[in-house]
Amino acid sequence: MLETPIKTEAQEAPASDPWEAAYLRFETHEQEICKFIRRLNRRGAAQWPRNAEIVELFCGRGNGLVALQRLGFTHLEGVDFSPRLIAQYKGSANCIVADCRTLPFGDSSKDVLIVQGGLHHLPNLPADLDQTFTEMQRVLRKDGFVVFVEPWRTPFLEFVRVVSELPVIRWLSGKMDAFATMVEHELPTYKQWLGQPELITRVAHSHFVPVHESFAWGKWNFVGMPR
Ligand SMILES: C[S@@+](CC[C@H](N)C(=O)[O-])C[C@H]1O[C@@H](n2cnc3c(N)ncnc32)[C@H](O)[C@@H]1O
Repeated sequence: MLETPIKTEAQEAPASDPWEAAYLRFETHEQEICKFIRRLNRRGAAQWPRNAEIVELFCGRGNGLVALQRLGFTHLEGVDFSPRLIAQYKGSANCIVADCRTLPFGDSSKDVLIVQGGLHHLPNLPADLDQTFTEMQRVLRKDGFVVFVEPWRTPFLEFVRVVSELPVIRWLSGKMDAFATMVEHELPTYKQWLGQPELITRVAHSHFVPVHESFAWGKWNFVGMPR
């Protein structure tokens, strides 16, 4: 997972924000799309109706949407508050520049809401998390569901963090250097997120009934239905 020195995509598409530049060179588009396809398949995407109305929140450069499109889904939208990242998305989904704490959708209008690595950027916990989940509950249809994949403090993540900070590793691996740079630039929210696991799961469970939940390889994987 962390082996390939990456030729920076930041060279193709410079980002003025140092976090965004590191995010863009962490994985190539294709690596990220394949990772998302594997994840979605593990979460049972093969069984979801192809015409389900799906929104990828905190969608960044939109590779989660590309993965969903390759899996055959036809009603796709994305939300992210970075116009620079959304501008990198080249597919046919409708992408909206907005803050996920206030979703630009009507009540009970969507079937599936997906977040992959976005919630840990929220600055105020638990208030922002509670507000985002309240919005997601409002927007979801009764039989809809959410999918979250977020970083989680596990021995694997601790190991990767320690290793990625070693200068020699950063020099050898563009991917490790990009990871360490992202962590440096998101440190306050990242530390806040990793330091409060009980609070986070309590807030999540107060809004969504878990259908699947696991904590492994540095990730929290959650699928839940609105309460
Ligand atoms: C780690 S990236 C994840 C992007 C994408 N989901 C992925 O996995 O490649 C986090 C994204 O969240 C966006 N973001 C952070 N806070 C946000 C907010 N309150 N509303 C909308 N987007 C936000 C950032 O612009 C960034 O694109």
